[in-house]
Amino acid sequence: MHTTRPVKIASVGYYVPPHVLTNFDLEKMVDTSDAWIVERTGIRERRLAERGVSTSDLAREAALACLRDAGVSAVELDLIIVASASPDHLFPATACIVQHAIGALNAAAFDIEIGCTGFIYALATGTQFIASGMYKKVLVVGAECLSRLVDWSDRSTCCLFGDGAGAALLVEGEPGEGILAFHLGVDGSRGDLLSLPAGCARMPASRETLEKGLHYIHMEGKAVFKFAVKVVDSAVTKVLEKCGRAPRDIGVLIPHQANLRIIESACARFGIPKDKVMVNIDRYGNTSSASVPIAMCEAVSEGRIKKGDLVVLVAFGAGLSFGSAAITW
Ligand code: ACO
Repeated sequence: MHTTRPVKIASVGYYVPPHVLTNFDLEKMVDTSDAWIVERTGIRERRLAERGVSTSDLAREAALACLRDAGVSAVELDLIIVASASPDHLFPATACIVQHAIGALNAAAFDIEIGCTGFIYALATGTQFIASGMYKKVLVVGAECLSRLVDWSDRSTCCLFGDGAGAALLVEGEPGEGILAFHLGVDGSRGDLLSLPAGCARMPASRETLEKGLHYIHMEGKAVFKFAVKVVDSAVTKVLEKCGRAPRDIGVLIPHQANLRIIESACARFGIPKDKVMVNIDRYGNTSSASVPIAMCEAVSEGRIKKGDLVVLVAFGAGLSFGSAAITW
């Protein structure tokens, strides 16, 4: 990456709604079992936003936590980027709602929608604004209420997703610290493997789309799984190559929390010991673009990430998309 200025993450914050839905609760809703979900995904429970609470509300709490951690006031922000596959509305952008909610009077704001890879893309985008010298403080948020887009009668998807938000504040760093490289990509030819078909321009909402459930998440789980295993491998390899590091240099790996088996396959491939990999899928499920920043926040608060550690973030999702980042913490 050709930066003019080094960029670092100054602080992180996250928020998950208090309501917990366990696998045992799900057993009462669809034909599934705690044993199946734990064995196939690693998920034990997930958080769901209460009625009346939406993506921007979760994003606001994560943003405020992040700003508190940095001792930065919202009026100091130059830009807010929200990554979400489940925004409050198509427009206004969720980032604009958050800008108002936190009183970031001087900030520009926009959304990024690239499924579960959203936070990595947003981080890469925000980095460019600091690196170029255009802005000094950029808040990047990943926030989701996927529970609102899931068909709660479809056992193959409803057990996977959860709600939450995570945020990171980007500022100029010192030479030798901060964000080292990104690797981003998509395979747009396979977009139909994971989609929300109706409700927009291609297929406006109608009685028929409602009856067919086309406004819910549709996923070919097995095909997405295979794609994920492959791209986690290549995205980690490529981002390490870009900054001249090897898998053994990784201090902490923070993977998208979609399926524990995908994470374990990456660890085996790179020979990364379990204590160097952040896993919280058991408690939150797949929170899409919120999953990497929530895991990053927990890794920081648990003291797993130390100053100087090489931290690698990796995610994949709808698009189909993938992205990775390497950071010297
Ligand atoms: N409980 C019990 N049985 C179930 C459940 C369930 N919740 N869900 C599916 N099954 C059944 C299926 O019906 C199938 O039964 P059959 O053999 O009689 O047809 C059987 O279990 C096996 O189903 P598979 O889909 O083959 O199961 P698999 O091992 O592939 O696991 C899973 C499914 C967990 C969805 C997995 O494929 C996966 O994790 N895929 C990746 C998902 C992902 O990473 N998404 C990423 C991004 S999301 C985003 O960007 C918004």
